[in-house]
Amino acid sequence: MSAINYSEKIPNNVNLSEDRTLQRALEQWQPNFIRWWDDVGPEGSTDFEVYLRTAVSVDPQGWAQFDYVKMRDYRWGIFLNPSDPERKIHFGDHLGEKVWTDVPGEHRANLRRIIVTQGDTEPASVEQQRHLGLTAPSMYDLRNLFQVNVEEGRHLWAMVYLLQRHFGRDGREEAAALLERRSGDENNPRILGAFNEQTPDWLSFFMFTYFTDRDGKFQLAALSESAFDPLSRTTKFMLTEEAHHMFVGESGVSRVIARTAQVMNELKTDDAQKLRAAGVIDLATLQRYLNFHYSVTIDLFGADQSSNAATFYSSGLKGRYEEGKRSDDHLLKGQTYKVLEVQGGQLVEKEVPMLNALNEVLRDDFIKDSVAGVERWNKVLEKAGIPTRLKVPHKAFHRNIGALAGIKVSPDGRVVNEAEWAAKKDEWLPTAEDRAFVASLMGRVVEPGRFANWIAPPVMGINRQPVDFQYVRFG
Ligand SMILES: [Fe+2]
Ligand SMILES: [Fe+2]
Repeated sequence: MSAINYSEKIPNNVNLSEDRTLQRALEQWQPNFIRWWDDVGPEGSTDFEVYLRTAVSVDPQGWAQFDYVKMRDYRWGIFLNPSDPERKIHFGDHLGEKVWTDVPGEHRANLRRIIVTQGDTEPASVEQQRHLGLTAPSMYDLRNLFQVNVEEGRHLWAMVYLLQRHFGRDGREEAAALLERRSGDENNPRILGAFNEQTPDWLSFFMFTYFTDRDGKFQLAALSESAFDPLSRTTKFMLTEEAHHMFVGESGVSRVIARTAQVMNELKTDDAQKLRAAGVIDLATLQRYLNFHYSVTIDLFGADQSSNAATFYSSGLKGRYEEGKRSDDHLLKGQTYKVLEVQGGQLVEKEVPMLNALNEVLRDDFIKDSVAGVERWNKVLEKAGIPTRLKVPHKAFHRNIGALAGIKVSPDGRVVNEAEWAAKKDEWLPTAEDRAFVASLMGRVVEPGRFANWIAPPVMGINRQPVDFQYVRFG
């Protein structure tokens, strides 16, 4: 059941050949997907053979398959975790009922919206990252970028499968539209803000895969609790892919910090200008990038109070992170949760019905998880004997969604006036000059085993290969 059939045009473990209509719909979509990949996928990579992992089954061991692949020939397909015939809905008004194998009419519009919104982020990130291959800091990093890119492509397939299989003609139209929107396009942008931002350099890429792919993890984890079983099974498998993306981000930033710390110690300085002159990224700039990516990413969880969030939960469409591990009643009626608002120029906590605050609940779970990784980055500084520490900003800092949208708050959580914001914002968020400096470091380093000056080599290679392995053959 979990083995993937690679003999078919579209690799799958869902017996696709038994559903001719669906197979035809997906086979019609497939060339459009390839056209999209050629158009806005990794620039100039058509002839590269990349040492990529491909799933051969959805078991954990199924990831053991690594080989050289031309990316446009990657076996994108449809992989669902096995179904559990006993699975019951475990939260919301339908608690205890059997999970749904198809979409109930009354939840159709909401489910479609959830799937389209998730699906839209997948191609968006490929588009955002399409130029990065031209400035890779090493062949190892180039390979990791490409692995992330093909897997985001596969995540798109995962969502398109659900749309085409369960939403009829609307689903086919949505599947087509997913290939038509473009990240950052004025007329036809991607749905969510963070996915229309640029990812112009590798520091942005590592911050993005650390923070924004982690948003993906939390959204997918919440959807994996869904009463709509195909969505649950699809997202469970996607989560195994997402883990690698966050690894790329966490280890990437960690290596940047390690290299900066090394040069700080060699030159015995923490002076940003001297460090920049030595070709490494000063810690203040790293902190500003962190502030930016963190704040833009926590906006993705949506408004702090949302009646949609309540509906999605009560109707069983979207659970909480690790719903099954929580010991409350899984109904949440009458319970409350604290959200922030501004009163008299100060941030204050306010108790609101928990059902309406589920976006905030998920955001707070995300925050806990991302803080843990920042602490691991700080360990690198600690080990190097450097007293500076990185810190995630206050959750009210630089927000654009919900009650905190547009309120000027410092990274340490003080409401500030326009004048202070204007005076300090260049200390808090990346400036055009920071971005230009980081861009100036970006140059292509792709000889096996060589690394750009601003980043340390990784501790080990991919799939137990040496660090100086030939991860990409340029053809
Ligand atoms: Fe993804
Ligand atoms: Fe991802």
